[in-house]
Parts: sequence; structure tokens; C-alpha cells
Amino acid sequence: MMRIALVLLLVAPALAQTRPELIADPPSRPSVSLDGTWNAIVDPYESGLSSRYFENAKPKSKSDLIEYDFDRSAKLQVPGDWNTQRNSLLLYEGPMWYQRYFAVEKKPHTRLFLYFGAANYLARVWLNGMKLGEHVGGFTPFNFEVTDKILNGKNSVVVEVDNTRRPEGVPGIHTDWWNYGGLTRGVKLIEVPETFIENFKLQLARGRSDQVAGWVQLRGGGQEGAEVTMEIHRGDLLVTAQKARTDASGYTSFEFPVQLELWSPDHPQLYEVRISAAGDHLTDQIGFRTVATRGSEILLNGKPIFLRGVSMHEEAPYRGARAFSEKDDRTLLTWVKDLGANFVRLAHYPHNEDMIRLADRMGVMVWEEVPVYWELEFENPAVLENAKAQLAGAILRDQNRAAIIIWSIANETPINPVRDAVLKSLSEHARSLDSTRLISAASDKWQRMDADHMAWNDPLGEYLDVIGLNEYIGWYGDRKVEDADRIRWTFAYPKPVIVTEFGGGAQYGRHGDSETRFSEEYQANLYQHQLRMLEHMPQLAGMTPWILMDFRSPRRALAGIQDYYNRKGLISDRGQRKQAFGVLEKFYREKAQEARDAQPAK
Ligand code: GCU
Repeated sequence: MMRIALVLLLVAPALAQTRPELIADPPSRPSVSLDGTWNAIVDPYESGLSSRYFENAKPKSKSDLIEYDFDRSAKLQVPGDWNTQRNSLLLYEGPMWYQRYFAVEKKPHTRLFLYFGAANYLARVWLNGMKLGEHVGGFTPFNFEVTDKILNGKNSVVVEVDNTRRPEGVPGIHTDWWNYGGLTRGVKLIEVPETFIENFKLQLARGRSDQVAGWVQLRGGGQEGAEVTMEIHRGDLLVTAQKARTDASGYTSFEFPVQLELWSPDHPQLYEVRISAAGDHLTDQIGFRTVATRGSEILLNGKPIFLRGVSMHEEAPYRGARAFSEKDDRTLLTWVKDLGANFVRLAHYPHNEDMIRLADRMGVMVWEEVPVYWELEFENPAVLENAKAQLAGAILRDQNRAAIIIWSIANETPINPVRDAVLKSLSEHARSLDSTRLISAASDKWQRMDADHMAWNDPLGEYLDVIGLNEYIGWYGDRKVEDADRIRWTFAYPKPVIVTEFGGGAQYGRHGDSETRFSEEYQANLYQHQLRMLEHMPQLAGMTPWILMDFRSPRRALAGIQDYYNRKGLISDRGQRKQAFGVLEKFYREKAQEARDAQPAK
């Protein structure tokens, strides 16, 4: 149990904050989980605000009127979406009030933060009736300091989570995935010393495989002029140790030469990084690799690499819910590896942190995306601010993950000058937060120049390092599956191209000839012809077909076939592999063999 001195001094640095205050949460950080069973009140008319549910009040006398009682209310599991916990909530969109008690024994000279892995979509948080703050965005972490609000003994936390879709939201009103609501990732109480290591970054310097660059941000009374020690270990071996001193805002950056084994899918080498400062200590497992482009090639550690990928939603296999556990993640990434893939596009929002850490360990390169998806209110300045905040949340959470090679700022957004300006700004924001990775976006904005010539010329390409192309030839539109064999592509920018989406639906076990929609044969045939087309695509550096596994979508209502599932998976939601899985796996095994054969003999 934790002990905390009441008179803690919370000295916020006077100097302007350079980054959102997100605490890095490596597994080494001491914390107490608040996961488990929470009381929950469904509040479709949001009367909880005016009825002050956040007070968790109890009638003081028999005549007192209190029209809610968390303790007698239904329960929900955290982490988890609420939709799949009760049938009555499957399609529920609106406010939900969560409440639980937890005991704390305060400890002197420490600070406490309530940390949320994610809450979809808008979260308002109270502790012991006091408002801590709000968070917008369903897929990035947030935390609130509670040091001076927490009680010695019993505490009550109340969280209103509202997944109502909004035109000014990011994402907006329309998506092709289930709008899972709730405290979808873990909640914990993090304990840190009075001055602590809030966050840090350590990666190879841009374009250098022999130089590490990074920074450390301290927070607290002792943040100015503090000595920071940074060590890189491999097992018992100390590879290097560096020291630096913080400035008045508690920030220090450093760069130093190293000789490290580089991380790659075939060799996902991680090092133990230990950071100490002002009495605080953090340990993390980090891989080091470089990623860059050269013309239309993507270079990993200086060598061209073909991204054999697949797209994936953060949906749990077998139970059709928002995935959150290591088990869920491992099942999905193991299927990615079984496909012979070395790359995964995590669509269309940042997936849980464990997924990325697992990709680090399993050697799967990652495309991470923020949900700037389809039509948004791009003219509304709040939309850009919201998207920038979500991007910062993702980058500040995952910046030390070698697996992540690409930040994606959008998917299938409409071409117009306002959108262009927003995405230009978003790409600059991504580069300002992390200059060591590639910036991309997925776009289905291409033109048919003539019968068999398709030209991708989305002005968005100007701001990207890598072009993402979504095309559904043979599924949407008037082209036949076989037409793909003749189709030629051109791109307005001489940059690497990843075909970020192609595919078609199939219901596992539904059979017919290759022209029968939703049959496995149709999907397999479509993959055959798509792969043939892609073999002739100029500038092609990778692909992430849509999609690894069938996933829930409120847009897919075809009874007996879709039943509110998008059936473009290569694997059914029950883990059954469709014929097309074998088609792509064979293609990837051959591609991998080609790459091995092309390696210069050691
Ligand atoms: C779009 C979109 C996906 C969607 C897919 C589909 O391209 O990016 O989110 O699920 O097409 O229609 O299946």
C-alpha cells in the first residue's frame, strides 16, 4: 500500500511547457492498477451533469432526494468497451458514468497521477467530487496529477465517458468501424518522486546508425540543473553511459556516438535503457534502427526493404470487442507473422501500447495512424487542434518504439484547399515532434486518365515522405477483378508508394465460382489479380491489404453474410483462414525469399 505526506510541494516550473504533460509509462514505473469491476450508470440524456453524479452523493436522511446510486448500479469491466459487455449496450452511443473506490496510504515526498490508457471519446474525470479535467480522443493516453486531491484511505473516482459521434470530432460522424465506448484501456495510479522523469526520447539520430539522440523532461522542484544519467545495457554488459544537466524547464537533450546492433524484423534486438535523475529511475526496452527514403525506396538501416504488410483494426479475435490485452495483441500479431508479413498498418487510430511493445519484440514494423478519417470539419480550427493533440499523444507515448517506422496523419480525406492546409500543418507538427520517422497518409484520390491508366495526384503528396494508396479495383466501382492485370499506375510525386488498402469481402465457408460475391473464391481471385497488378506498379515499396480479420461495422448490414461485420478479412472474426490468406502468404514467402537471395553473401 502507498503512503503520502499531505504537505507535498507541487512546484510547477514557471517556464512555458514545451510538450503536453504525458507521463511515459514504461512497465518499470511503479503503479497500482484500478482495473476491474466499476459501477456504471448509463445516462442517455446526460442528466448526470446537472444531477451532479460526480459527487457520488448518498442521501443523508430518509427525505433526501438523490436520484442515482453507483453502488446499486450495474457493473462494467475496465478495461473494456461497454458495447460487448451487455447486449443492451451493443449499439449504445452516449454518456456513461463510471465510478469506483480505491484505498491509498499516502507516502511522503511522492506525487500521484491518475493515468488512463484511453477512453472513447470524451472523458470527464473527478476525484472525491473535485474535477480533475477532460480529455478528447478515444485512442491516446492521458493523466491528471492528484497528489493534493487524494485522501489517505478511501477515495472515489468518477469518470463520465461519452462516445457520441460529433461533426467537429476526430473522427467525425462517419466511420467504417464499431464506435466502441468506454474505458477501453487500463486505468492506474502512478507514483513518482517529487521531482520525476516525466518523459524521454532515445533513438538513433536522423540518418545516423552510429549516433544516438534524445531528450529527458523532468518535472518538479528539483528539475532545474539536475544531473541526468542515461545508460544503455545489453544483458550484463554496460554499452554506454552518458550524463547531462537539465535547464530551468527541467529539459535536457543529448547526442552521443554508439555501436549498437540494429533492430530489424529478422533481428528485433532490444537494449535496456536506464535513466536516472533527481532520485527517479526509469528502465525501458528500446530497439535502435534507422528508417529513411531514397527515391522510391524505403531504407531500413540503410538497406532497401519491401514492406510485406497487412492492415488491422484493434479488434479482439473471437469475441468481437475492442482489443486491449497482451493476449489479444499476441494472437493478432502472430497471425500477421503467419502471413509472412514484416509490417502492419494499425488502422485508423493508435492501438494500445502493449500492441506496439509486442511488435518491438516480435519484429513487426508498424504504421501508426491518427483518426483523421474521411469527411471532417476541416474548416473548424478546433479540428486541427484536436488532431494535433492526438498525434502528440501517440508520438509521446510511442516515440521510443523501434517498430514504428511511419506516422500516418490521415485516411481518405477529400481534396480541397482547407483540407490541404490542415494536413500540411499536421505533417509539420509530426516532424516537429519526431524527425526520425517517415510521415505518410492513405488516400483513395486517384484519377482514371484512360481505360487502364490510373494517376494518383492528391496534392497531399507534397507533405508526405511516403504515399499511401487505397484502391478497390474489382470490388468497388465498375472494374472487373481481371481488369487489374491491365491497369497501369502513375504517381505525381517520385516517392515510395505503399498500397495501404485493396481487398474484397468473403464470408468464411461461403463457396462459389470466382465471380460470386462474398465467396472465398471471389476474394482469392481478387488477390491473385491485385498482386499481379502490384508487381507492375512503379515506386511500390510495400502493401497492407484490407484487412487481416473481419471486424464489426455498423455500415455492414447484409443479413446472413455481413451481419454488421466488414468481411474483407483474410481471417474470419472466429480465426478461420480464408483461401485468400494462402494466396497472400505464398506471395509474401516468395518475396521474402527473393529478398534473402538478393542479400550479398556474408
Ligand atoms: C475504406 C476505409 C476503410 C474501410 C474500407 C472498406 O477504404 O479506409 O476504413 O473499412 O474502405 O470499405 O472496407
